[in-house]
Amino acid sequence: MNLTAKLISTIVPSLGILTIATLNSPTTLQQDPQPAAKLASIRVITYADNVAEILNNNCVKCHREGQNAPFSLEGYANAKRYSNMIAVATSKRIMPPWKAQPGDVEFRDDAHLTDEQIAMLEAWANSGTLRGEKDKEPKPPKFVDGWANGKPDLLLKMPYTHEISAEGEDEYWNFVITPDITEPTWVSGTDVIPGNKNIVHHVIAYTDSKGRGRKLAQGEKGDGKSGYRSSGGGVGFNPDGALGGWAPGAHGHLLPKDAGILLEPGTDIILQVHYNKSGKVETDQTQLAVYLNKAKPEHNVSLEFLANPFIRIQPNKADQHFKFDMPLPATQQGKKVNYRIYNLMPHMHLLGQSMKATAILPDKSQKVLIDLKNWDFNWQLIYTPIKPVDLPGGTIIRLEAIYDNTVDNPFQPHDPPKLTTWGEETTDEMMLLVSALTVIPQE
Ligand code: HEC
Repeated sequence: MNLTAKLISTIVPSLGILTIATLNSPTTLQQDPQPAAKLASIRVITYADNVAEILNNNCVKCHREGQNAPFSLEGYANAKRYSNMIAVATSKRIMPPWKAQPGDVEFRDDAHLTDEQIAMLEAWANSGTLRGEKDKEPKPPKFVDGWANGKPDLLLKMPYTHEISAEGEDEYWNFVITPDITEPTWVSGTDVIPGNKNIVHHVIAYTDSKGRGRKLAQGEKGDGKSGYRSSGGGVGFNPDGALGGWAPGAHGHLLPKDAGILLEPGTDIILQVHYNKSGKVETDQTQLAVYLNKAKPEHNVSLEFLANPFIRIQPNKADQHFKFDMPLPATQQGKKVNYRIYNLMPHMHLLGQSMKATAILPDKSQKVLIDLKNWDFNWQLIYTPIKPVDLPGGTIIRLEAIYDNTVDNPFQPHDPPKLTTWGEETTDEMMLLVSALTVIPQE
């Protein structure tokens, strides 16, 4: 395919992908305009009546025993103990880690809290954290461990059990896995079971058809089976693409039946695992599930990198805006084409604050594809529209991003702040939208 973005993709490391998407008729989730007024009609706010349901539905899938969130939010005692932190983290929209604003596209597993829910949690923390009637408390949901998409077609393991030290900075490790396939294979999605939920924060499965990962993974034994470390910005080279990604609380979505990502025999999967430190020495052997399309699907899905590599982020200035337009060509090889977008993964590094992608259609109408606020480098999610988004050829994708390069940015990596431009290191920056899409010839 011949997108402008493709030119750029040669200098951009591939990022993860996952799943699938859609566009919808532009229904918009309604924000409550007057959450405070609504709350005023409730006289007493209690855990049983008002709070348990919010925490159970939005938090405990990660905040429970055995998951990687730092404490459990199951039950009244835990909710009370953490009530102030809950109020702060939700009102700043740090938690839950879902950053897409309600807009023209509805996403799967949308986890944003409404303004009213946030106001409720805050009001509960500030009004004595009352319990209410114990018997009326909704019970925390039951979770089944296992694969959300059923038994995987290929189950791939990290080549060995990896050890992570007790303390220090987060580490990014890359493990090379060669899938046992002999024919071109169509991947419809991936999922991950982290080997150790105490430390596995995030996983991305990249593809490498040229053995570059193997060279980096020689290790002491020279067997190509050692993990190697990289910066969180990449895997040490520009991978061919990616099959999927995973973060706590998210599971991979599969592409529709008529679509797949081509995996050729001999192509390696580079499994990048982002590890937190837990305070003690830990081990991990994470598993990647791969789901296949048995027959060659109609649509060949590829990852495209829609990027603005020209960013220059001046030091000591907050609120720096960049805008970049990328046309999706109306024709390819002389044929008129349309595009179908299956998912969207915005990507910036530590100075990023927000990113918005808007489709400007040939008839000049606009559709906001994704509007991400409160960017958090530690929570890079793949956003999957419920229904894939179809865009006519000739549509312009407009990317808008905002950066804060001051000492007030808590993630500021430089002291003092310095001019920051595009680059792969975490301390460089990016303005990138990764999207799984397909080109559809017009009839
Ligand atoms: C997808 C998993 C996930 C979900 C859902 C989630 N959390 Fe968290 N939460 C985490 C993890 C992991 C951390 C540790 C910090 C980090 O990695 O960002 C955390 C940290 C926190 C913290 C500490 C923040 C700080 O300032 O250090 C609070 C408070 C919190 N979560 C509350 C909530 C509440 C309330 C909800 C639901 C409304 C929620 N979380 C939903 C995974 C999750």
